[in-house]
Amino acid sequence: MQHKYYIKTLQGMLGNKRLEHSLAVSETAAGLAELYGADRQQAAVAGLLHDCARDLPGEQLLVLARENSVPVDGIEKIMPVLLHAPVGALLARQQFGVLDQVVLHAIEVHTLGDETMTLLDKIVFVADKAEPGRKFPGVAELRQIARQNLDRALLCCFDAAIILSVRRGDLIHPRAVQARNGVNIFNRPAGNCKP
Ligand SMILES: [Fe+2]
Ligand SMILES: [Fe+2]
Repeated sequence: MQHKYYIKTLQGMLGNKRLEHSLAVSETAAGLAELYGADRQQAAVAGLLHDCARDLPGEQLLVLARENSVPVDGIEKIMPVLLHAPVGALLARQQFGVLDQVVLHAIEVHTLGDETMTLLDKIVFVADKAEPGRKFPGVAELRQIARQNLDRALLCCFDAAIILSVRRGDLIHPRAVQARNGVNIFNRPAGNCKP
């Protein structure tokens, strides 16, 4: 019932493709939650709402962040699209009535990651990249790794994002590097991806 309300509200906020992606992330996250012993419902909600602010223009993201005391750093000023994650968490609370901090945090860190990530944070982060609609070289391998070793899948996602940023000549947010280094820093998961 709640899901139906969320989907109806999302229909007014997102284009069709983004909505489809959100539904797919929700399902993928729920599946990973079952596999890794996280709460299926929390994963489904965080997956569904993770991109709720993704279709807002950069200027609006900056305004919403400023009005609601969401911290904005220099890189986010240049690349406000990064704010769709923390502003998404804000909208999930304000517009969707989500009060669960675990869910809100997973939405908040789904773009850059964080130095320390909860199981749900990791699940939503990986589900965002591994959902069935994603098409990029290595995605089949990522889907397989996601079901075998969540930390390794997370590391693959971080590596691929950093490599892509370098190739594009984009700025790399320090939090993306901290998040990458934070994956089992003393016990790095075995195996590599070929992003
Ligand atoms: Fe996103
Ligand atoms: Fe997404």
